[in-house]
Amino acid sequence: MTRQKHLTKVLHVSPEMAPLSKVGGLGDVTGSLPKALQRLGLNVRVLTPAWPGALEKASRKGLTPRLEHHHLALALGSRATEGRLWSTVLSGVHTYLLEQEELFCDPAIYPSSLDAETIRPFAFLALAALELAAKTGWEPDILHVHDWAAALVPVFSRWHRYWGDRPGKGATVLTIHNLAHQGIVEAEVIEQWHLKPEAFQLEGLEYYGKVNCLKGGILASDAVTTVSPTYAREIMTHEFGSGLEGLLSSVKDKVSGILNGIDPDDWNPTKDPSIPCTFGPDDTSGKADCKRALLSRFEWPDDGRPVLSFVGRLFHQKGIDLLLGALPDLARHRVRLVVIGTGEKEYEDRLKEAARRFGKTLGLRLAYDEALARLAYAGSDIFLMPSAFEPCGLSQLIALRYGTIPVVRATGGLADTIVDTDENSEGYGFVFKEFSASALLEAVYRAIKAYRNTKRWRNILERSMRQDFSWTRSAQTYQTLYESLRRNKRARPGKNPAEDERWDRP
Ligand code: GLC
Repeated sequence: MTRQKHLTKVLHVSPEMAPLSKVGGLGDVTGSLPKALQRLGLNVRVLTPAWPGALEKASRKGLTPRLEHHHLALALGSRATEGRLWSTVLSGVHTYLLEQEELFCDPAIYPSSLDAETIRPFAFLALAALELAAKTGWEPDILHVHDWAAALVPVFSRWHRYWGDRPGKGATVLTIHNLAHQGIVEAEVIEQWHLKPEAFQLEGLEYYGKVNCLKGGILASDAVTTVSPTYAREIMTHEFGSGLEGLLSSVKDKVSGILNGIDPDDWNPTKDPSIPCTFGPDDTSGKADCKRALLSRFEWPDDGRPVLSFVGRLFHQKGIDLLLGALPDLARHRVRLVVIGTGEKEYEDRLKEAARRFGKTLGLRLAYDEALARLAYAGSDIFLMPSAFEPCGLSQLIALRYGTIPVVRATGGLADTIVDTDENSEGYGFVFKEFSASALLEAVYRAIKAYRNTKRWRNILERSMRQDFSWTRSAQTYQTLYESLRRNKRARPGKNPAEDERWDRP
């Protein structure tokens, strides 16, 4: 009899997963990384909440979710909360959708303020992740969780009175997609969670008298990753650490940066059905049609001006202040700028006002409009990402694929992915350092100068379209991390729960 090799089993736990739910880049990552890991031969599953409309969306896509468990009763506070577990296969990956109508009821996914009530969905998700193995018989070797909203998985896996340090449990990996969000809430919530007393200490969830989910997750996890090598270094500094720089430095041996990728099938200008004309690095002529289509959406003529675009959330992080500051000069330089996105009201209002003033320069669409975003990626010449900080950034990678040359600030994943073509003849972008409108403008002017030189621009464009930022390499790095954690686990099995104070599950 041949013995089958045990494939490493990985459960990803994420508050969002595209295309079923998405607020930002995290949804894209959990919608594409598991598929890439599975291609490497790992046995991967995903657990994510069924936010309003997610089950219907899955059905509409022909994914027909199957009910796996009617009664998933999990102890939050003094009573059990019941949920249902659905499963479907999304891009070849077994995906669990956790349904609980009262908890997963906010279409916005993340609450605007966190309190004992609004944090319950995320505690429930964490308990479900740990219960899943018992209920389905599929026991993951690795629990890979994303951001503060899933960080209670490692916390519970370490300090929960029932689940904490059980033998045979999986190793935990926490990926930080954005350190600015930590899940901080009043300390009382902890009474609902049935944790051992050591959970609420300096070496645990405690943070200035409150509970900090991300901090607890960082301490409880076996490994912490973030989404680019530069951001992994930046978060250990005062400027980028959001108050956790000291803690992250103290555990730096278990922190690493692994660059995100994009799904090259999903973002492919040679066959993207939503753009008017497809094109690729061997024949870029279709890009001009896309540019005309984009211009006509804003009732602009095709008069040879370069088209710049910004697609993203309208928050300080994304450098909207720099865009607004640069607008009067951009107007003088006779360029077009398309801005697509939603976000903070203050930025939306300021952009609306700017669009009234600079109507010939600024084309504004305040919406999450994927079709128009794709047209902007395909039909623009230059893509702007002047971020204050950027853990990885996916838009610049998409822009590269569509031959739209990125102008980026050298921070986080932007510094790791974009090479300045004035500094390196193999480069395919324009990079600036200082967080100021004038530094952004200087880089934009360099890009426009290159754009006016047809032959040079064509070379830059072709190089940009040939860059490979698919998941392949990063998925292998994750695989190496998983394997090493699995080996360590085998060498150091967990504690026997009988050694702990006894706790009966309610
Ligand atoms: C967050 C970060 C972004 C990153 C994405 C996916 O949205 O702000 O930089 O690309 O997560 O990891």
